[in-house]
Amino acid sequence: MTARLANKRIVLGVSGGIAAYKSADLIRRLRDAGAEVQVVMTAAAQSFITPLTLQALSGNPVHTDLLDPAAEAAMGHIELARWADLVLVAPASADCLARLAQGVANDLLTTLWLATKAKLAVAPAMNQQMWAAPATRANLATLQARGVAVFGPAAGSQACGDVGEGRMLESVELANACADQFESGLLTGRHVVITAGPTREALDPVRYLSNHSSGKMGFAIAEACVEAGARVTLIAGPVSLPTPARLRRVNVVSADEMLLAAQAAVEGADVFVATAAVADYRPARVAEQKIKKSADVIALELIKNPDIVATIAARPDRPFVLGFAAETEKVIEHAREKLLRKKLDMIACNDVARADIGFQSDDNALTVIWADGDRHLDKAGKTVIARQLVELLAERLLQK
Ligand code: PMT
Repeated sequence: MTARLANKRIVLGVSGGIAAYKSADLIRRLRDAGAEVQVVMTAAAQSFITPLTLQALSGNPVHTDLLDPAAEAAMGHIELARWADLVLVAPASADCLARLAQGVANDLLTTLWLATKAKLAVAPAMNQQMWAAPATRANLATLQARGVAVFGPAAGSQACGDVGEGRMLESVELANACADQFESGLLTGRHVVITAGPTREALDPVRYLSNHSSGKMGFAIAEACVEAGARVTLIAGPVSLPTPARLRRVNVVSADEMLLAAQAAVEGADVFVATAAVADYRPARVAEQKIKKSADVIALELIKNPDIVATIAARPDRPFVLGFAAETEKVIEHAREKLLRKKLDMIACNDVARADIGFQSDDNALTVIWADGDRHLDKAGKTVIARQLVELLAERLLQK
């Protein structure tokens, strides 16, 4: 279950309470499951456990102060808020729950809580009477109504000698509850290599042949693979997209460069996804100087580029190969032909004659075909389509 935590970024907020000692073991379990952990401690938490202990276990400096210029320079609270996939406060004391419910932002943890778009969770820990108090119940109901996940608490004997509800869950239970917040670990342990964007084939120092690919589809697939727990290498043609988090990006320009990068990256890889719109031809000669305007008609001699996806599929150590087909007519028929000719495991085809999907657009619609089946993915945002494609890919991969 904790496979879902691979590559995930978790901010662990620690507030003041005797259960803070359990946070140390929780950090270890989250990291063992592949998550990266940044710890934020309230002032009260530091009376129960030292930042140094949690720093050693998390492998990152512990954040304690909203107004510390040095810490803000290293990773500011807004940056930390944006970094997180999940913010879990464990233990969450009665006071901390009250401040979170009221939207008070008087320390680093509560400020970050307001500033993040990440999933939010609390693991309450307090005396059983405080847990039962109407004010605590109301604060909890407010948080739950806003979509905050509540992990526990458990019942049992308490540090203060009372018996009842209010014990923080054990670290293994908390790590599992964190994993449940994420959709899938479908590709955990897999290395996926993806090509994206166009290639550019130089004519002279200032001109080139290329196409309209923006890279959006390939980048969305790369992000969906990271989300699914994979280690991802993204080989990108010239596009103006920012690098998604938690993957390795290799920039290339021409088809020849893309082939070299792909050959190097697929050594030992599990999956190759060819989303790039590779130029089929390149100029036979690249002029050293800018070609001067002269005759009214000039002829360009073009030579065939290597077929990258077919080359990868022909390797004796081939990974699972998912190709794309960009077609303007007889979309399915042409895609089936490419699936066979290029010896792919799967092909995703799109109708690039449509202006509302395919090249440049934020949306796409795909028909995905394999030897003994197919599935249509209705028009949706490329992020959504990419997640659906990754689910299909993971299914097929398991059957191989
Ligand atoms: O980048 P976007 O703006 O988001 O647009 C997305 C997209 C339309 C580019 C994408 O969805 C898509 O269809 N990509 C494949 C584009 C393409 O070149 O299709 P093709 O039918 O010409 O090629 C078939 C397959 O062979 C593709 O997997 C392609 O990457 C691969 N190929 C083609 C030529 C070549 N020399 N080497 C290759 O590896």
